[in-house]
Amino acid sequence: MKIIIINGPNLNLLGKREPDVYGNQSFELYFASLQKKYTDIELSYFQSNIEGELISKIQESGFSFDGIILNAAAYTHTSVGIGDAVKAIQTPVVEVHISNTFAREEFRHYSHIAANAKGIIVGFGLQSYELALHSFLIQ
Ligand code: DQA
Repeated sequence: MKIIIINGPNLNLLGKREPDVYGNQSFELYFASLQKKYTDIELSYFQSNIEGELISKIQESGFSFDGIILNAAAYTHTSVGIGDAVKAIQTPVVEVHISNTFAREEFRHYSHIAANAKGIIVGFGLQSYELALHSFLIQ
């Protein structure tokens, strides 16, 4: 099974960025622990701060991978282009967020991705990604 995690803007700063909201661990370390735990899954990871690069990666993965775990970060709430890319592809997308976006500012309550995602996992810290991975495994 081929799964890709795609992370959007500022998630390269995990571990350093607002640790009270996003925790102390870098994504690289967390990703390495996932790879170690799920050796049967071909797991890849892509991060970009640039909207168009995220769209290109969604397109590129969206016809060959078995699943996309997408945390578009702030673009979740603003990007029609990322929402359209998710709609355009065949690979199922699980939208994830580290923080509980619904317990935060109003502008974080809307997602351009949600309506075309297979499902959404929100608010479980970095474990949101592992829960999303499980959603592909239980099928
Ligand atoms: C986030 C939530 C977004 O609102 C925010 O802009 C992020 C991270 C999360 O994972 O909790 O950058 O997607």
